[in-house]
Amino acid sequence: MNTTATTSTLQHLLAQTRIPVIGAPMFLVSGTDLVVAQCTAGVIGTFPTLNARPQEELPVWLTEIKTRLAAYKAQHPKAIVSPFGVNLIVHPSNPRWEGDLEICAQHEVPIFITSLHAPNTVVNRVHPYGGIVLHDVTNARHARKAIDAGVDGLILVASGAGGHAGTLNPIALVNEIRSFYEGPLILSGCISHGKDILAARALGCDFAYLGTRFIPTTESMAPDRYQNMVIEADAAEILYSPYFTGIPGNYLKASIIAAGIEPEEVLAAKAGGAVTLNKDLRPKAWKDIWGAGQGVGAIDTILSVRELVDLLSTQYEQAKRDVLR
Ligand SMILES: Cc1cc2nc3c(=O)[nH]c(=O)nc-3n(C[C@H](O)[C@H](O)[C@H](O)COP(=O)(O)O)c2cc1C
Repeated sequence: MNTTATTSTLQHLLAQTRIPVIGAPMFLVSGTDLVVAQCTAGVIGTFPTLNARPQEELPVWLTEIKTRLAAYKAQHPKAIVSPFGVNLIVHPSNPRWEGDLEICAQHEVPIFITSLHAPNTVVNRVHPYGGIVLHDVTNARHARKAIDAGVDGLILVASGAGGHAGTLNPIALVNEIRSFYEGPLILSGCISHGKDILAARALGCDFAYLGTRFIPTTESMAPDRYQNMVIEADAAEILYSPYFTGIPGNYLKASIIAAGIEPEEVLAAKAGGAVTLNKDLRPKAWKDIWGAGQGVGAIDTILSVRELVDLLSTQYEQAKRDVLR
């Protein structure tokens, strides 16, 4: 590992954010408005390339984001405007990933977040123009593979996170990976408050990765009913199951009930087992069955992204003072 390179990557990113936060990519939730609002509020904004559909929309989204960020910078020369990133699902089941990589590389997207397979191809395509690659991992084995592939940082997806969460406790996960990796670490899972961001820093991570907290924001693509469900839910109402996609994920129990499915049936499903419903008839994960992490219990308002980043920033500074008291 080139520690000097990773340190300078990290310093560069930190200098371009108001607080050490990355807005996590969320399928059907993160669009151009959310990303632009995040970056102009001073946190890194990201989206899954699959949200731009069909594929011809992807260059349109990238041009729009770059144009709006440049216009904001021109109007607010002193403001911190953070870089943006895309999420690529690197897996044979995603037929778009190589085409999406090429489109994003041609646009010189600054940050790539890769999920599933080790991202050697992405690293080779993106590094020459100065882009960086952060890879999602849920355990040490996958972390080692990603480090071997030359990534610039690791996103540690702990238990309780929204989407396809891991199963490890965040303290255990961070300590284990820090024991063999000095590069940038980003903690994912249940981070909803400024003091949670400080907790991630105290654990030895450089950034916090927030998904669920950005669902109830005025700029998110989530429908109102979904946003209200996040506000009303507690951690106990998040069900972790492979029922809908074959891979375990965290979903809002209320959305499962609203789709006419028994929560007990969902909880009984086994990972890798056949999904029980007829594919054409079953409600679609993410579209009809809504994802959210256990951090929902600490979320009780819909805010604009700027209001939320202001709040997180105030809470983060307060938390620093509180721990030193
Ligand atoms: C509704 C939803 C959709 C998600 N979609 C994706 C995705 O397409 N790609 C991805 O890498 N992660 C996805 N995630 C995971 C997030 O990027 C992130 O790891 C997670 O939301 C962090 O945990 P938190 O929600 O507790 O903050 C999704 C999460 C949610 C809640």
